[in-house]
Amino acid sequence: MSFASSAEPRHHPDCCMAISQPLLHTLSNLLPNGPAISVLSIGSGTGLLESLLSEMLDDSYDVCGVEVSPNVNKYLPEENMFFVGGTWDLCTQAGRSKVWMFTYPRDPKLIVRYLDIYDHAGLSKLIWLGPKMDWQDYEGVFASSRFSNLTILEDCGMASYEMVVVAELSGSP
Ligand SMILES: C[S@@+](CC[C@H](N)C(=O)[O-])C[C@H]1O[C@@H](n2cnc3c(N)ncnc32)[C@H](O)[C@@H]1O
Repeated sequence: MSFASSAEPRHHPDCCMAISQPLLHTLSNLLPNGPAISVLSIGSGTGLLESLLSEMLDDSYDVCGVEVSPNVNKYLPEENMFFVGGTWDLCTQAGRSKVWMFTYPRDPKLIVRYLDIYDHAGLSKLIWLGPKMDWQDYEGVFASSRFSNLTILEDCGMASYEMVVVAELSGSP
């Protein structure tokens, strides 16, 4: 991989989110422990962030991506990619994944649809990454779901205008 993550958040043309080593550590620490943890990044783009995250994890984690066009992915192995028929379409793999990630999603309605159709007992955490100014469009989606326990992370390796939000089950500590 041609991208070496740095201590400070740095932009790469292949990822909307600025990437840093601390951000990757933050994300890896957010993932649940377990024998088989499947992470699905919905709208994974080139897969750069997902691929770097995957490199930090042991074999018990399986980081996959979903995209609309097969031409977009550059970094995730083919077998870790799923494709949908259009921006309105959903990926059935979501119904088997323990964690969903949304990095710079374009439309809150996509998350609403995933929660309506593919929320399942094994789903334990949703991770949203994006610009702080976009969060207001998404907060209500999570707040009105069973993943309404929201933790906002700032200054853990993100750019100053970006943040990570962890949405967990409303009963979780
Ligand atoms: C703003 S880009 C972000 C890409 C990547 N996460 C990043 O941070 O660089 C949003 C991505 O979501 C993808 N997308 C839009 N609708 C989707 C859908 N229904 N399922 C999967 N991906 C979708 C687009 O193709 C696009 O690559």
